Amino acid sequence: MSITFNKKTNSFLLNTPSSSYIIRIYDNKYLLHGGWVSRIEEWDDDVCSMPLLDRAFSPVPAELHNKADFSLNSQQQEFPTSGRSDFRTGAFEALCADGTIAADLFYDSHKIIKGKPGIKGLPATYVTSESEADTLEINLKDPVTGVMVKLVYTVWNNRDVICRHTIVKNDSSKAGGIYKNQPVKLRRVMSASLDFMTSRYKMLQLSGAHARERHAIWQKLIPGTQSVESRRGTSSHQHNPFIALADYEATETSGQVFGFNLVYSGNFVAGTEVDQFNMSRVQIGINPYNFEWELAAGETFETPEVVMVFSNKGLGELSRTYHDLYRDNMCRGPWQKKERPIVINNWEATYFNFNAEKLFKLADRAAEEGIELFVLDDGWFGKRDDDRSSLGDWFVNTKKLTGGLEEIAEGIHKRGLKFGLWFEPEMISPDSNLYRAHPDWCLHIEGRDRSLGRHQSVLDLSRDDVVDYLTETLSKILSTVAIDYVKWDFNRSQTEVASALASPANQMKTAHKYYLGLYRLLENVTQKFPNVLFESCSGGGGRFDPAFLYYMPQCWTSDNTDGLSRLAIQNGTSIAYPASAMSCHVSAVPNHQTGRVTNISERGHTAMAGTFGYELDLNKLSQPELDEIKDQVALYKKIRSTVQFGDLYRLRSSWDTVAPAESTAYTAWNIVSKDKKQAVLTLVWQFAEGNPELQLIKLKGLDPKAKYKLTCSQSATIRAHLADFPFPLPESAFAPFPAGTATSGDKLMNVGLYLPYMPQYGGSVQIVLEQI
Ligand code: GLA
Repeated sequence: MSITFNKKTNSFLLNTPSSSYIIRIYDNKYLLHGGWVSRIEEWDDDVCSMPLLDRAFSPVPAELHNKADFSLNSQQQEFPTSGRSDFRTGAFEALCADGTIAADLFYDSHKIIKGKPGIKGLPATYVTSESEADTLEINLKDPVTGVMVKLVYTVWNNRDVICRHTIVKNDSSKAGGIYKNQPVKLRRVMSASLDFMTSRYKMLQLSGAHARERHAIWQKLIPGTQSVESRRGTSSHQHNPFIALADYEATETSGQVFGFNLVYSGNFVAGTEVDQFNMSRVQIGINPYNFEWELAAGETFETPEVVMVFSNKGLGELSRTYHDLYRDNMCRGPWQKKERPIVINNWEATYFNFNAEKLFKLADRAAEEGIELFVLDDGWFGKRDDDRSSLGDWFVNTKKLTGGLEEIAEGIHKRGLKFGLWFEPEMISPDSNLYRAHPDWCLHIEGRDRSLGRHQSVLDLSRDDVVDYLTETLSKILSTVAIDYVKWDFNRSQTEVASALASPANQMKTAHKYYLGLYRLLENVTQKFPNVLFESCSGGGGRFDPAFLYYMPQCWTSDNTDGLSRLAIQNGTSIAYPASAMSCHVSAVPNHQTGRVTNISERGHTAMAGTFGYELDLNKLSQPELDEIKDQVALYKKIRSTVQFGDLYRLRSSWDTVAPAESTAYTAWNIVSKDKKQAVLTLVWQFAEGNPELQLIKLKGLDPKAKYKLTCSQSATIRAHLADFPFPLPESAFAPFPAGTATSGDKLMNVGLYLPYMPQYGGSVQIVLEQI
């Protein structure tokens, strides 16, 4: 049992394999936090707990005023409220019948259960057997209003993971006076609040923009609040619902790191508040912006889950814990553990300008290269020849595809490829039959104009009729056309978040109700078509969050497919999300987003760090490029199980500010299969330098006793490119060791490999290691 309650000290000890999380009940009432630390076997409340201090200008609960040196403002609290004597940010704020926001959440009872219950209407991690985890539920009660708050903690037995969420019940039938049977208005209900004794941490956030998603950014905590949030109605390109705190000294391989990842795709907030005593409070949950939830007497509200991961071996270990958890206990369905097909997507090859002949020509070439899945992207429906119309009209554009979707699906299948199709189900174009029939089906505010993004509006998924309509429409296509894969896109931020069906009192529920509706839709469609591989997308990676992984095991990482830009994007994404979830494609040069020209070899090596594919017109490539693609496809088939389901070790990154002293000219990572039989080392030079320092790279995660055979994939196109170089490169630049070289895992990890000097901007090396 990973959860124990000590009656003597009135405290809970929540133990994962390497961490302990302590909760204390003080004076049979106040729920205090005791720390989240490297594992201890027993909690001795008398010796180790923080002194119950009443410090400067910190008022004390009246009943304790003359009894104890106790102030809520200088304690680590487990779920702080607003309006009483803690001046830091509360985790709970509700407007009560008396017009105030004060609340006291006192300990009432608790229960420890085996396994992990689900969360009503929301995606969450799950257990496959009760022995995987135990769950603690602590009930707190406000004696005045009757509001009950249940804090739920699932503690994983074999992972350094604790999942938390919060359930609020309005039990005002048990309250007295003006509160009896009255509703309360929830304004802020965090999924977790966690107080640390110190602020000697640096905080990591994954931030950026469209086409520049999830760059890893670190900053040292300072007094005040440092937070990230989304107000866009999506988890967003700008900030991911993830933060981590790490010791100042922590690196990729050492030190304590604490991760917080919200399982939610809508508006969120995640941040840290450092107080006057340099204590720090982490909170993460639904963004109070545009949120107010009136809870009638007897009703409950459940928050999304936060996945909290502990590592005392640095950031790399934290990432691997997230990866394993999401692959094993978040993703579902037949594709969860299945090797993902190599894709050719027609978007950057044709954009909206295609017909069957063009598509088949691309598919023919893809089949010759060994590619396995053809994806028909935007533009196949309604009268869509650009992005100005037809979203919502999910019937085939017969002007472009005269033989219908069936002809395309059949033609693709005949060529030996699987067939995939793009949808943007949550959207509606004002120029569409659907909009003309149902102008009130989109999010809008009566009497105001409707902001457009990419000429489109967002359907109101807080409405059951819209969710039912979409379930039916999508089901019809998926059951009449032979579709193996769906790309589920979402290409604008939400504005005027209001529903024609909501009363003014309930309008502020719309933003969250949208996600309850969307999750119902996703559940309906993905469960009805379990064999279809679903990939989520939002203008690239605008909704790359763990909630989507519950329905769709992979996500389009970014619209930016530039081989070098992708290094920073994939590096940041890999901090929380596994390679099996990161969809990565090779595209044409000059790159359509950055204009940069990089070698096909580097683009291939970089894209092979995730689920792999191509997004360019293969028929426009030179023969050497096509040859190299054929080699890439063949190689990826050999290594994809390792890449998608193995252990990732980030070795070097010039974007990496974990250890800024290590600023480097290249990014490198190696991925090792779970059985350690195969590993893939990839290294990409990001800056061209004259006569750079010697580069020694030490691998990680290999079996020290095993012998590995090394094969270096050589780039024919780089070789051809450098053939005209006035100072020819030595052979070792392409073949750093003779064919058949084998050496032991401990040498590769402890001595390392010297890598060849590649004076090519964006040059790359990939080495496959096979145990012999
Ligand atoms: C988004 C996606 C792209 C592509 C286009 C189509 O931007 O991220 O991959 O599907 O939409 O309009």
